[in-house]
Amino acid sequence: MRKNIVAGNWKMNTNLQDGLALAKGLNEALKGKDINCDVILGTPFTHIASVVDAVDANKIGVAAQNCADKVSGAYTGEVSAEMVASTGAKYVILGHSERRAYYHETPAILKDKVNLALANNLTPIFCIGEVLAERESNKHFDIVKYQISESLFELSAEDFSKIVLAYEPVWAIGTGKTATAEQAQEMHAFIRKTLVEKYGEDIANNTSILYGGSANASNAKELFSNPDVDGGLIGGASLSVENFMPVIEAF
Ligand code: PGA
Repeated sequence: MRKNIVAGNWKMNTNLQDGLALAKGLNEALKGKDINCDVILGTPFTHIASVVDAVDANKIGVAAQNCADKVSGAYTGEVSAEMVASTGAKYVILGHSERRAYYHETPAILKDKVNLALANNLTPIFCIGEVLAERESNKHFDIVKYQISESLFELSAEDFSKIVLAYEPVWAIGTGKTATAEQAQEMHAFIRKTLVEKYGEDIANNTSILYGGSANASNAKELFSNPDVDGGLIGGASLSVENFMPVIEAF
């Protein structure tokens, strides 16, 4: 059956020392606790190897927040999927709305990134979600289906079964305006139905679909109690042990 996952997305926050202290603090807080979900930390590239070394790999997985759409070579400033994997990271967040909006990552570019991540045994945490205008004009289902199909639907069933999805309505990210539990469940059920049509019941039912967008200690329980919400991708509330632990413990 699909896994419950709580993943932190630190974005461009914390220097190495502060990030390492945060990871160690969380590692400490998880000691001796019976946790009912996988915990992942999405750290800046510069922190990954140190965080991997500092935490108990049985309790905390580490994710990059991006990787290159090229294998290797003359791409100054880029970090390849192979490089990410060589640090000990097991996951990579791809298609975050901030990458799509500010760095012009198209579905085609994201398809290449997903393929490279999988080729390097990284689990993509693939983000999808509509902007406010799309929701207000009732295009949110079409947009989300398009984002999934354009980047992922050429994958074999075997490869698709390695993907984690994160539905993050852009209007809810960093705004304090969480989707309601009903809105999240409605979209997650739609996503699962889309996966059933393409890959069948088994794969659809085994795919973890996370919710992201102003999820925190006060709303995580309600969000996670929905049948098709398998966890969260957490930005702001993942930046302190105090705020992140209750989200993990919401399962
Ligand atoms: P937020 O970010 O929790 O700060 O809204 C979520 C995300 O962008 O992954």
